[in-house]
Amino acid sequence: MKVNKGFPKDFLWGGAIAANQSEGAWDVDGKGVSVMDVEVLPEEYSRQGVLGYSHTKEELLAAVEDKVGYYPRRVGIDFYHTYKEDLALMKEMGFKCLRTSFNWPRIFPNGDESEPNEEGLKFYDGLIDEMVRLGIEPVMTMSHYEMPLHLAVEYGGWTNKKCVDFYMNLFKVLFDRYHTKIKYWILINQINMLGWGDFASLGMLEGAHDDWVSDRYQGVHHQFLASAKACAYAHKKDASCQMGMMNGEMLGYPASTSPEDAFAALQANQMNNFFFSDVLARGEYPGYALRYFEDNNINVKMEEEELETIKNNTVDFISFSYYSSGLYSKENKLELDKNPLLPSSVWGWQTDALGIRYSLNAYWDRYRLPIFIAENGLGAIDEVKEDGIHDDYRINYLREHVLEIKEAIKDGVNVFGYASWGPIDIVSASQGEMSKRYGYIYVDLDDRGQGSGKRMKKDSFYWYQKVINTNGETI
Ligand code: BG6
Repeated sequence: MKVNKGFPKDFLWGGAIAANQSEGAWDVDGKGVSVMDVEVLPEEYSRQGVLGYSHTKEELLAAVEDKVGYYPRRVGIDFYHTYKEDLALMKEMGFKCLRTSFNWPRIFPNGDESEPNEEGLKFYDGLIDEMVRLGIEPVMTMSHYEMPLHLAVEYGGWTNKKCVDFYMNLFKVLFDRYHTKIKYWILINQINMLGWGDFASLGMLEGAHDDWVSDRYQGVHHQFLASAKACAYAHKKDASCQMGMMNGEMLGYPASTSPEDAFAALQANQMNNFFFSDVLARGEYPGYALRYFEDNNINVKMEEEELETIKNNTVDFISFSYYSSGLYSKENKLELDKNPLLPSSVWGWQTDALGIRYSLNAYWDRYRLPIFIAENGLGAIDEVKEDGIHDDYRINYLREHVLEIKEAIKDGVNVFGYASWGPIDIVSASQGEMSKRYGYIYVDLDDRGQGSGKRMKKDSFYWYQKVINTNGETI
């Protein structure tokens, strides 16, 4: 028996983007409107604002017709048309994988059709073939904040069980078409990110729910069921494909040395993170979650046969995004507090590289399933100078995290890939801005989509290229 020395030789180095934040082309080739296509960037927008929280039906329908406001996702970085040149740059860095998502309404414009939109599928044929041609493994997310708006407005999104069937219609079309080309499938992006995800992921509308919290967990239950059904379908049709669940890691340490805060942190890490992976990886609702529901008058309808499906069809791998950590206390329950010991980004996200090693160990100890790091990175404001874009702050952030991943591998954790977030600048999910940049590749577009769209290599491009070329020996 030996200690692992470093990254395995077939490690999937790469990056992750999402369709709604990159593709643009929101209304071409038969595409319908997604929930994020109606997120406007307000004129008076300030960096403190967060977009993406719920809206009323009237607001959403008015946004679809709006010709004046600026809707960043409608434009993205025009990846729909530039993917070949963008992939070529990723290949130049040595990418072994790229994670992106299927834009649901490109394939089912309203979500409830019985036949898919062939034009939308053709785009993914081209994208996936190009990745395969370049030797870049496609890691595809089925749903990354791209629910057809129609399903949110007319059906109540995931709170309606019919959404399970709509998701399965999408999944079957995609799995049948691509299972020989796509090995890794992530079923729902950041399934645990409630609050912000109520609208973006679950499709819940303001004013449409009498019991918001129960409906939210009802929606999550339907996402669990849909994930299990997708696993069942995939495992039967092509067992070589790997199905993954994904959390948006909300790691919190105890806010003080008191046993009460330590226990509060344990409970918050359970309900905010492990609840979702416990159900999807172990196949059962854990007792702490059932108790949490009872203590908080949360009512979720679960049929015996649904629980059976969840039990029998668990995932093959775990994935999570990791950006920062925080503190949990007995006063604040599930809310993460800031950690006074950690530095913050311009947007207040705190840097804690050790936390990624902590989380990797925690998931590995709990499930003994392979882990894919689906996102990690630093959103920062970059300056284009005459002699280049010197993003040493980004290199430092990434270096610290990659070093901690290496430590986790030495701890014995089975990590098979690392997809840093936004390898090419894209629209920010929570802020809607372009100026919150994560990329190794700069895109010349401002917050309102003005600019040449030209791609430029930042210093971090060469740094990551070296990391990949040496398989993590030179970090
Ligand atoms: C994750 C999301 O939460 O964080 C991405 O899955 C998102 O869609 C990323 O872009 C970074 O967040 P933001 O708000 O800085 O873009």
